[in-house]
Amino acid sequence: MKGKKQVLNSRCEIYNYLDYSFADHLVQDITLGMTGKKKYIPSKYFYDLNGSQLFEEICTLPEYYLTRTEISILENIAPYIIGSSSQIDLVEMGSGSDTKIARLIRASSYLQGEGIRYIAFDVSESALYEAARCLTSQFPRIQVLGYVADFTRHLHHLPHVENTIFILLGSTIGNFTDEEMYTLFCDVSRAMNPGDRFLLGIDMVKDPVILEAAYNDSLGITAEFNKNILNVINREVSADFELDDFDHLAFYNTGREQIEMHLVANRPVTVIFEKIPLTVHIKKGESIFTEISRKFSRKRIEDTIRPCNLKINAWHTDPDRWFSLVELSKVFQ
Ligand code: SAH
Ligand code: AVI
Repeated sequence: MKGKKQVLNSRCEIYNYLDYSFADHLVQDITLGMTGKKKYIPSKYFYDLNGSQLFEEICTLPEYYLTRTEISILENIAPYIIGSSSQIDLVEMGSGSDTKIARLIRASSYLQGEGIRYIAFDVSESALYEAARCLTSQFPRIQVLGYVADFTRHLHHLPHVENTIFILLGSTIGNFTDEEMYTLFCDVSRAMNPGDRFLLGIDMVKDPVILEAAYNDSLGITAEFNKNILNVINREVSADFELDDFDHLAFYNTGREQIEMHLVANRPVTVIFEKIPLTVHIKKGESIFTEISRKFSRKRIEDTIRPCNLKINAWHTDPDRWFSLVELSKVFQ
C-alpha cells in the first residue's frame, strides 16, 4: 500500500501512512487503555500540533538537560559520524523539529546538503512539514523524503537506502516498553546493510533529584504537555475529559530506572468516548499512565540490542555522563 503523496517542493516529497489507519488504531488503543485494570494512554498521542510545540518548549527549559546535552555531543562527533563519502542516506525516526539534524549536517562536510538524502518518520504531520520546510530552505541541495507514519508499524515502507545512518535521538527509545524496544531494534537491524550505522540517543541513569526536576519544571510546561494528551483524545474520539479534573504526576521509579508520568484524577470522573462508544468511570486518586521515560546503563543497552544482532561500535558522552550517543552496527553472521 502506498501512502498519500504530497510534493512540498522539487526536493521534498511527503507520504502519509496514517490517513488510512490512525483513527482505527486510536480507537483500539483507547479501548484497551481505558478498560484495563490500570488505565493508560500510549505516549505517541502527545504529539498533535500543540503537543509538538509544547515539547519544543520543554527542550529549552533549564531543568530539561537532555536536549542541550545531546546537542553538545552531536556537534562534537558530527564530522566523524557523517564522514565524507559522496552520498549518504540519513533515516531519522521520531524526527520532530529540524534542530538536531540541521546541526549535524552543518557540522559535516556536505556543503548545502549536497549528497544527503534525509528520510524522516514522524506521527506529527505538523512537525514533519515544518522540519522539511526548514531543512530544504537551509540546505538548498538536500533531498528530503518525509513519512507521516508510525515508525513502529511503517518502517517497511522505507525505500531502498544505501550508506545509511539510522537515527533515533532525544531518548525517544526511552518511551518504549521492552517489547516495543525489541521490535524496533529488530526492525532497524533488518533494514541495515553492511557498513550502515544506527545512532541512538539515550538518557543515562543519574541522581533522581535531577531526573525528577526535568519532568516537573517550575513553569509547568511538562504538566501542560501531559494534560494536552486529553485534548487529543477529546478531539479524535469525541471524548469529554475536563483537563482541570486531572493533576500532573511524574516521579522516578528507582527499581525500574524510569520516570513515570501520570494524570491523576482529583475528583471522581465519568468520561464518555462518543465515537467508540465507551463510558469510563475514574475514581478520585486513580491515575492514567501516560509515559515511561527510561534511563539507561551501558549494560541495559547491550542486553537489549544483542538479540537483534546489533553491537556497539562507539560510545559518545558528555563530561558528566548524563546522556549518550551510541553508534551501533549490525552483526552479519
Ligand atoms: N527527535 C526529536 C524529537 C523527540 S520527541 C528530538 O530528539 O528532540 C519524540 C518525537 O517522536 C515526536 O516528534 C513524536 O511525534 C515522534 N513519535 C513518537 N512516537 C512515534 C512513533 N511511534 N512513530 C513516529 N513518530 C513518533
Ligand atoms: C520524547 N521523549 C524522549 C521525552 C522524554 O523525556 O521522555 C518526552 C517528554 N516527556 C516529558 N517531558 C518530555
